[in-house]
Amino acid sequence: MIILGIESSCDETAAAIVTSRKEILANEIFSQLNEHSPFGGVVPEVGARAHLEQIDAVVKRALSSAHISLSDLDGIAVTTGPGLIGGVIVGTMFAKALAMTTKRPFLAINHLEAHALTARLTSSIEFPFLLLLLSGGHCQFLIVHNVNHYTKIGSTIDDAAGECLDKTGRILGLDYPAGPQIEKLARKGNPKKFILPKPLFNHHGCNFSFSGLKTAARQLISTFSTDDLQTKADFCASLQLTIAEILVNRTAHAIDIAQNISPLLKTLVLAGGVAANQYFRSHLNELTLKKDFEFITPPVALCTDNAAMVAWAGVERLRLNLVNTIDFEPRPRWPLEELKGDL
Ligand code: KG4
Ligand code: ZN
Repeated sequence: MIILGIESSCDETAAAIVTSRKEILANEIFSQLNEHSPFGGVVPEVGARAHLEQIDAVVKRALSSAHISLSDLDGIAVTTGPGLIGGVIVGTMFAKALAMTTKRPFLAINHLEAHALTARLTSSIEFPFLLLLLSGGHCQFLIVHNVNHYTKIGSTIDDAAGECLDKTGRILGLDYPAGPQIEKLARKGNPKKFILPKPLFNHHGCNFSFSGLKTAARQLISTFSTDDLQTKADFCASLQLTIAEILVNRTAHAIDIAQNISPLLKTLVLAGGVAANQYFRSHLNELTLKKDFEFITPPVALCTDNAAMVAWAGVERLRLNLVNTIDFEPRPRWPLEELKGDL
């Protein structure tokens, strides 16, 4: 089975070709960073226009680098939400046109499900597993029972971890997205230099809260000059350590909760853009060793937004005959737990 995947829900226009044998035949990404950087964040209208300009060329590049033609495809998968609706509409309309003209199945992919299933493209992990999904806008624990079947057991009650990193980074004078730069600067810093709050630490359950940390970070940053590179690095290291400790504490609770619900569960999967962070990966890996859990996280390039994950979700769904009709409407909001009711 050969699937074309298209991703345009945020600031990357991407197309990939993936097979049911877990081969990534092409994985093309056009990043809109240059378009958005003058504004210090993603501007939805600018993004939608750039997706429209790029999508045709990006899909053509994916087909030609995989050395296949449209007639070789078994299905067309596209992110139909959640995300910035202008971009999602561009990708969805393009994919629908391709599906209609090639008479191939149309696969409406939830972006979060694409992140969630990526670990199955890059490893042999079976269901069920516990997922910690950390992206720019999402921060949640889910039990992944199967394709199309998720139970949320905890989430942020305010900001996502990625949002906290990006917004704090902006105050530090870093470009969007700040996560990777904070990770880089933190390598040269002293993580014990600044003490930051850890909201909900040790609290019952496995919810997160990051808005208090963001506010405290803003106040602390106002006490030093962001031109002082060593202090900036110390601050990044302290912020990263604080978030890592929060993630470990909440995940320890989530593992206990998930095992109560699903005793067979023995694997933690970390996914989403923030999962690219090596420091968070190694802290969570240590926790899973203590908990006698397996730890799986996709390679960095498949953690941040890409279309291979969308194509792979298409493979998983087509295998189960979870095909959508062409009138499927794009959704700006689309919680994973609602997937089951969609077919
Ligand atoms: O999944 P993703 O690429 O896009 C969304 O679906 O939101 O996630 C983007 C988020 C941003 O907040 C970005 O700062 C963060 O992932 N991120 C990182 C790293 N790479 C990306 N955060 C920390 N360390 C990184 N290396
Ligand atoms: Zn994402």
